[in-house]
Amino acid sequence: MTQKTLLIGQTLAFTGDPFHDGIETARHDARGGILIENGMITATGTADDLRRAHPEAQITDYGNSLILPGFIDAHAHYPQTAMIASWGKRLIDWLNRYTFPEEMKFGDPVYANAIAKTYFDLTLANGTTTTTSFTTIHPASVDAYFAEAKSRGLRAIAGKTCMDRNAPADLTDTAQSAYDDSKALVGKWHGQDRLIYAITPRFSPTSTREQLAALGALWAEHPDCLMQTHLSEQTEEIAWVRDLFPEARDYLDTYEAAGLIGPGALFGHAIHLTDRERARLKESGASLVHCPTSNTFIGSGLFDMDGLMAEGQTIGLATDTGGGSSFSMLRTMAAAYEVAQLRGRALHPAELLWLATTGSARALRLDTKIGHLSPGYEADLVVLDLASTPAIAQRAARADTLWEAVFPTIMMGDDRAIRDVRIMGQSMTK
Ligand code: GUN
Ligand code: ZN
Repeated sequence: MTQKTLLIGQTLAFTGDPFHDGIETARHDARGGILIENGMITATGTADDLRRAHPEAQITDYGNSLILPGFIDAHAHYPQTAMIASWGKRLIDWLNRYTFPEEMKFGDPVYANAIAKTYFDLTLANGTTTTTSFTTIHPASVDAYFAEAKSRGLRAIAGKTCMDRNAPADLTDTAQSAYDDSKALVGKWHGQDRLIYAITPRFSPTSTREQLAALGALWAEHPDCLMQTHLSEQTEEIAWVRDLFPEARDYLDTYEAAGLIGPGALFGHAIHLTDRERARLKESGASLVHCPTSNTFIGSGLFDMDGLMAEGQTIGLATDTGGGSSFSMLRTMAAAYEVAQLRGRALHPAELLWLATTGSARALRLDTKIGHLSPGYEADLVVLDLASTPAIAQRAARADTLWEAVFPTIMMGDDRAIRDVRIMGQSMTK
């Protein structure tokens, strides 16, 4: 007989998308239960009902803590772990001054392995159970990330970052080697355990048309892979793309011309979009990934969450470490709230929590596997202590509703709020 585990606490499950279906689609149980067997959620309901129906289950009672699907970071750069919070530059200077010198170190597999370990220690400590990462041009950087994720049983996404121009010589590949290396890495890692390969041109300024086309061809050969890149993050970057691709209708067109658009395409940032780009993104089934701590830290701009959601775009949430300034998806939700406020819209806590879980899962086309507290889903979970610091505790003590109780943790919480994190049902904190 399989071992059954019953987790008890406050639970929050989404039966719909709070942006379109309303806040009522969030189902809160003040005394809920999650039954886990063989790493999968097999039942949800009230703690009392589940306890009665499964008296043999081993129980962990988290009291008033809130059990959620684990956080899903839809865009990050694990090789930038050691240079996060580098001061004083905008995107292009920040890449040249801080990012590229650090990424050069990943030609050394020992260094890559050490940073991959640190990275997953940090993301798990922050309750993030799935990460989606860029790497460097070095295949060893991809091996380090996937090997570390595999050893921890994680669902993780990544791909070799490809660049064949406008970067230091030691940090460039070619159209052909990008294709060959990426293809070999797809064969080595894609679909192994819970790992997924994302074909990864860094962004149009660092790829020739030939490289973008080669990666478009590779994606056509492996359509079940994801494709990740950057789009319209800063105004100077967009002007540079216009100079480099005078034939293109706009920034998105540089990807479109190479076959790098469609379902499974993940476009990080997507702040300064034209009407044509918005229409084409929607029609193509691509996903946008909002990276709010990065957008404020590097001074990129204010993502139009409200307008993009209203027109039906698919949107995930992400840290973008180390352009982003935090490994915490709580801090990332807080920044998303602040960015939306600056555009005149107060995101509801239900919308923020949905974005960091179900929304990101949907953007990654993984919402039949992760991001829901429902039977049939992988039991990747985070348990939030809603009174993790004196400042949060005194505010939460005055709350009348779940939303008032959880919002101080969204706005002020960090890794101290992570009471537990479970990967396929197994606690990572014990
Ligand atoms: N655009 C191209 N590369 C990067 C990167 O590493 N970080 C961010 N924020 N934007 C990028
Ligand atoms: Zn990025």
